[in-house]
Amino acid sequence: MKLPDPYERLLELRAGCRDQLQQISAAQSSLQPHPELSPLIWHVGHCFFTESLWLRRRVLGEQDARDDARAALYTPEQSSKHLRGSRAPDVDALLRETRQSEGECVDAWSRAATSGHALMQDDYLPWFIVQHYAQHLETMAMVAQQLRMGATGPDAHCGPRLTATGDQLPAWLDFAAARCRLGTQANPQAYDNELVAHDVELPPYRLGQQPVSNANWLTFMQDGGYRRPDLWDTEGWAWRRQTGIEHPLHWREASGGWTSADPADPLLAQAPVHGICWHEACAFARWAGARLPNEAELEHAARLDRLPGRGQVWEWCANALAPYPGFEAYPYAGYSQAWFDGRHRVLRGGSRHTHAELRRPGFRNFYPETHRHVFAGLRLAADA
Ligand code: AVJ
Ligand code: FE
Repeated sequence: MKLPDPYERLLELRAGCRDQLQQISAAQSSLQPHPELSPLIWHVGHCFFTESLWLRRRVLGEQDARDDARAALYTPEQSSKHLRGSRAPDVDALLRETRQSEGECVDAWSRAATSGHALMQDDYLPWFIVQHYAQHLETMAMVAQQLRMGATGPDAHCGPRLTATGDQLPAWLDFAAARCRLGTQANPQAYDNELVAHDVELPPYRLGQQPVSNANWLTFMQDGGYRRPDLWDTEGWAWRRQTGIEHPLHWREASGGWTSADPADPLLAQAPVHGICWHEACAFARWAGARLPNEAELEHAARLDRLPGRGQVWEWCANALAPYPGFEAYPYAGYSQAWFDGRHRVLRGGSRHTHAELRRPGFRNFYPETHRHVFAGLRLAADA
């Protein structure tokens, strides 16, 4: 299969960023709609700045008088989330900056291609920047959803009412014991956390034929899933009690049923549930007499192309993000290594907002156990 040209994709993804910004009002663009999310305008500025920094400063060694001020705003560690909106330029100024930056980068990429720099080998850096835009575009879809939910207010009821319960859990798919490949070798798109590719032994196991649906989730709720400490581990129950949470993030109670707070994301009975954190996914699995899959089980099934429904919601895995044997941080420790803290769980598959570049079987997403706004649901697993 011929890979698309990374420079063509860059053009599309940069335009995609500007589109996101142009779909909302100027006032919304600098709002922080959720404590864990940055304003949309910051994501756009951060993406263009990141491209320019790696390409023009790191590869070509160019000095740019504008970089210090931009670094202070667009480097996550230097810029606290709740101040990012007020420190960002206005939309028109930012759009102008992105166009200028794009022109400078297009020119710089052609010089970089003949620079012989290690980051340019096999088009590593252009693919790295493509994936960076793609990941932030998905995060911008999260921001857009939270903005819509904020705009509809706490009592909004969008789309059909979900009332059906008693829905069957997905049937099992059986997987025989196997030696399977974990990781993404010999691919310039591989992130450091996908290396070194290696084989692992898997005992026989089963996976749900589909991710858990909204109707399945409602059954869990009506069976007291959020009120039964026996379904939760100690930390999960502490989280549940402390937050008081009793339903997925965008669900709203409506006379005898449930609706969505987001007009663009109605609660369809058969669609995969999302808006749940890892603790909720664990409780559901225990209620169902099952468990969460580990990431190797999902990668093996994805390589066999035996995961119906994959790619609609991210699937929470049992295991924390951890380095593979032989891991080396590249091109910077902040991409993966900073998150090997035992509190970030792996997610596999992809959501409907995930771009093609991130849908390979070996791709490892990761978020803290408590995040609920990341378009994540679950697929059940069991020992065979
Ligand atoms: C892997 C999706 C959790 O968005 O924080 C973006 C990806 N790293 N910029 C994130 C990332 C640096 C990361 N996730
Ligand atoms: Fe980033």
